[in-house]
Amino acid sequence: MDYEEEYSKYQVHFLGEEPEFLDTVDIDLSNRKVVDLGCGGGINSYYIKRKYPHTYLVPIDISFIRCLECKSNTVNLPVQADILDVPLKSGSVDVVVCTMVIEHLAEDRGLLREILRVLKNGGLALVSSVVRSKGAWYFRKNKAGMTVLDSTHVREYKSIDEFKKLFGNFRIKQVVVREISFSPLRFLYRVVYKLRLAKTADAKFFLTNRWLSKIAKFKLNVPNYRAVEIFCEKRESLTT
Ligand SMILES: C[S@@+](CC[C@H](N)C(=O)[O-])C[C@H]1O[C@@H](n2cnc3c(N)ncnc32)[C@H](O)[C@@H]1O
Repeated sequence: MDYEEEYSKYQVHFLGEEPEFLDTVDIDLSNRKVVDLGCGGGINSYYIKRKYPHTYLVPIDISFIRCLECKSNTVNLPVQADILDVPLKSGSVDVVVCTMVIEHLAEDRGLLREILRVLKNGGLALVSSVVRSKGAWYFRKNKAGMTVLDSTHVREYKSIDEFKKLFGNFRIKQVVVREISFSPLRFLYRVVYKLRLAKTADAKFFLTNRWLSKIAKFKLNVPNYRAVEIFCEKRESLTT
């Protein structure tokens, strides 16, 4: 598996706030088989497991560094794999969670095909991404030279409808649009770490102190960028 790890090393995924989608997906995940595709540092897995300790949870990520991070941040043992070829049986999963990953993949439709394949009939998926509207700008560039929110984004959707079109084989239950914001304090931490002024990255750093945790919650919105979450269901009749 060939994956550019440099980015995983410095873009620390901090624990600190429960992901908002856990309110959107207002279903009891206890005793369900849940996969966290592109789990990163394990933020989703950590909070899912905290809220539903009796979930059968499998975090999966292509990056070795992210898998190590996820393992140390959560009690879950992640699987290192490409989510365009998920190493799970067809029809074996109750719920798929895949947040802020599709925009990193060479094939977005390939991911939806894999989600459809691994889900049981009637299984649920929560997939999120970023939408950039006219005038959106961010200071990072990807390999193709596009200004993007994250230098490993290969695409950013131009509208919510463009993103929704990928879900033709699902029944969309809910679409939630949120502001995208960043914490200047977390940004500063990453810079310090990148300059090698801090030896090890600590995803729980902002949990260690009440004041730090409060200041880290101060965020600035990124203009013209929004996060879109689609909560959907695999239609009963579909076979893959
Ligand atoms: C922005 S992070 C999102 C992490 C997490 N889902 C979250 O919302 O906090 C994107 C993650 O996707 C992973 N990723 C990128 N391409 C992948 C692939 N083909 N298969 C599995 N994981 C992938 C990266 O290693 C990274 O951890």
